[in-house]
Amino acid sequence: MDRTWECRSHLAGVDWTILKDDLGRDNFDNGRTADELRLSFERSHATVTVWCDRRVVGTARVLSDGVCNAYIVDVWTQSSYRRQGIGTAMVRALLETVPGQHVALLTDKRSDLYSSLGFVGDDGGMSLVAGSWLNRAARASSTARSSGHPRPSLHARP
Ligand SMILES: CC(C)(COP(=O)(O)OP(=O)(O)OC[C@H]1O[C@@H](n2cnc3c(N)ncnc32)[C@H](O)[C@@H]1OP(=O)(O)O)[C@@H](O)C(=O)NCCC(=O)NCCS
Repeated sequence: MDRTWECRSHLAGVDWTILKDDLGRDNFDNGRTADELRLSFERSHATVTVWCDRRVVGTARVLSDGVCNAYIVDVWTQSSYRRQGIGTAMVRALLETVPGQHVALLTDKRSDLYSSLGFVGDDGGMSLVAGSWLNRAARASSTARSSGHPRPSLHARP
């Protein structure tokens, strides 16, 4: 099914019962109630839903401490919408919300989706640093700009 879809970063309008049913039809329901599903998303650092014809056809979310570690979960594209770039668009949108952080995810199978975005790892675990580790160079220069004083360069490594 190759139809126009749209990524949203907010959760307004999501019908969690319908979403749970759709996840179940794709064997991707991990047992959360519709309410638990909603809470999982609402309590995440950032979420993406993909919409087509007023229905959610893709989800992804990221947990983050806001400093150095993030974890992507619930990446799902409804089966009839797969292989159109929806999964890639969702993960890319989440990565933009966690600059400088080490981003992990667990996946059953190696996928070009993740490696094309820069994830590396062995079977069962892949991760990357979104941009540069801890985003210090950008943060230091913005602090220096706001204080008017130059900052020493910081060397960051995981
Ligand atoms: C994994 C999943 C989210 C991918 O969603 P998707 O929307 O199909 O993702 P994309 O379209 O961005 O990429 C999927 C594949 O299609 C390819 N692709 C992307 N755009 C494409 C296009 N326009 N035409 C053809 N193929 C395309 C990608 O290279 C990728 O190839 P791969 O399977 O070898 O990695 C989806 O298969 C899914 O929901 N699976 C079940 C749940 C699950 O396993 N989630 C992952 C948990 S980490």
